Amino acid sequence: MTEFMHMDNFVSEILGRDIFAVERDFPQIIRFFGGYGILFGGRKDIPLGEYINTLPDSLLDDIGIDRRQLQVHLEFFLTGGYGEFQATHTVTIIGGHDKFGNEEHVRLDLSTGSITGIVGPTGSGKSRLLADIEWMAQNDTPTGRTILINGTLPDIKDRFSPQRKLVAQLSQNMNFVMDATVAEFIHMHAESRLHATNDNHQVINIIEQANRLAGEAFTPDASLTSLSGGQSRALMIADTAFLSASPIVLIDEIENAGIDRKQALDLLVSREKIVLMATHDPILALMADRRLVIKNGGIYRIIPTSDAEKQYLTELERIDNRLQQLKQRLRTGETLI
Ligand SMILES: Nc1ncnc2c1ncn2[C@@H]1O[C@H](COP(=O)(O)OP(=O)(O)OP(=O)(O)O)[C@@H](O)[C@H]1O
Ligand SMILES: [Mg+2]
Repeated sequence: MTEFMHMDNFVSEILGRDIFAVERDFPQIIRFFGGYGILFGGRKDIPLGEYINTLPDSLLDDIGIDRRQLQVHLEFFLTGGYGEFQATHTVTIIGGHDKFGNEEHVRLDLSTGSITGIVGPTGSGKSRLLADIEWMAQNDTPTGRTILINGTLPDIKDRFSPQRKLVAQLSQNMNFVMDATVAEFIHMHAESRLHATNDNHQVINIIEQANRLAGEAFTPDASLTSLSGGQSRALMIADTAFLSASPIVLIDEIENAGIDRKQALDLLVSREKIVLMATHDPILALMADRRLVIKNGGIYRIIPTSDAEKQYLTELERIDNRLQQLKQRLRTGETLI
């Protein structure tokens, strides 16, 4: 039984929790209230329900909503009425076996706000691990792994329903075949997620963020099919960060996309997601909180990023900046020496 099946209980359970706990476990709810201008200044040690009950009428008048409507909207939001809200706070990987049938002996909890790197030689099984998570493997993939959501087996309808999609995957090869402009695509996407549909501000924001990641800027009326690989990737990253409610983000090799990978990661992580990222790039690997080392199809080691490694990251970034400058000079037609 999953946590989000018994919504009535779930709603009252949430209303009974103090604001600190809600903020920690369900930051989406805090953003929901933020959308109404309710920012929880001051006391956070009281139950959320009590806080709502004691909001002054004058404030609600200003916002233009009454207490009952606010409650109805909250329930609608929590029960998935706004699309894909999932109160996901942990993904657990329970090991299966490697390509030779050796047991993995792993049980690993990944929580909201964490970044986990996946490293290992080509062909070792990094993409396979991401696919296991995307499919929420139940001992029914070649690895025999099992994935739990919030400590329980995901319901079959949560695994396959696009409405309740838990996972946003940024796969390595991304080609748009749709005949639409960038702005139309974002509008369509926003609509399918039941976000405000005519919010041009949102569209502009997503394009701005994407352009910050990519090289040459594209405009809202650019056709999707005219975007380069890196521009498409940047658009999908910004779009995922701002429009996708999926709490789990899987990234397969961001480094080859020619985009600003550090900014991309910051954008995705700032949205309180659970991020897993397969990479061959030492900078991205060290930006993660931990990395899983894959060998022969199995999780071979789990290495937390040490303080010493984090310090080394600064040095690596210095070297990388130098390389990026050289790349930039090449791109703009200068000579290097
Ligand atoms: N535990 C396993 N048991 C059986 N087959 C596996 C296992 N793990 C991975 N494989 C298979 O091994 C092949 C290579 O794995 P995968 O594509 O995940 O490699 P990769 O690490 O992503 O490589 P690259 O760095 O080139 O992207 C795939 O066909 C995958 O299904
Ligand atoms: Mg791969």
